[in-house]
Amino acid sequence: MILSSEILQQFSQWLAQAKEKDPTYHNGMSVATVDANGQPSNRIVLLKSFDEAGFTFFTNYDSRKGDEISHNAKVAATFWWSEVQRQIRIVGVVKKTSREESVDYFAYRPLLSQVAAAVSDQSQPIDSFEALQAQFDKGAEQYGEQVPCPDNWGGYRIEAHEVEFWQGKDHRLHERHLYQADGDQWHMSILQP
Ligand SMILES: Cc1cc2nc3c(=O)[nH]c(=O)nc-3n(C[C@H](O)[C@H](O)[C@H](O)COP(=O)(O)O)c2cc1C
Repeated sequence: MILSSEILQQFSQWLAQAKEKDPTYHNGMSVATVDANGQPSNRIVLLKSFDEAGFTFFTNYDSRKGDEISHNAKVAATFWWSEVQRQIRIVGVVKKTSREESVDYFAYRPLLSQVAAAVSDQSQPIDSFEALQAQFDKGAEQYGEQVPCPDNWGGYRIEAHEVEFWQGKDHRLHERHLYQADGDQWHMSILQP
């Protein structure tokens, strides 16, 4: 569902205010996926962009999360910013970004992060950290200055149908505004804390 301008405005204001407190990791969000048995698991990823189409992060499509998403595209994401006592919860469905968008973002990453992404079979076991380091060194030498975006690396965009803005308040009388997609409209409810 296309995000309303009200949701986008609130989201971008809260993200910008979180950035003032934490310029490096304000965009960290926990993303939960579900496996074939209905077992959820979650992990932190970095939100790289957002617009009316949704919230985008980048990862390895063959990772655990990628595998789970390939069977069930329903996800939930949460931001928590302790300094401003704010939480944002997002519920939706993910779609892969276009290859072009993934390649463009990959090219923008620092060279050694590109190497790390290219040599890491994300979520797969390896004998030792030294073996991983050796894999990295070999990749760095092999690729030189040009690391192609791996075929299994790219973005997921969360197309949200629920977005909740949670503002911590005194005495745990927190303020919760839940936006839910209702047909082609967004409906806002105020929830008890
Ligand atoms: C602050 C932070 C940012 C992270 N950002 C990303 C990210 O943008 N993409 C990613 O694939 N993993 C990121 N990770 C690593 C993930 O948390 C996770 O370990 C990895 O994606 C493998 O998850 P999976 O095995 O569940 O697929 C980040 C971890 C932290 C702590």
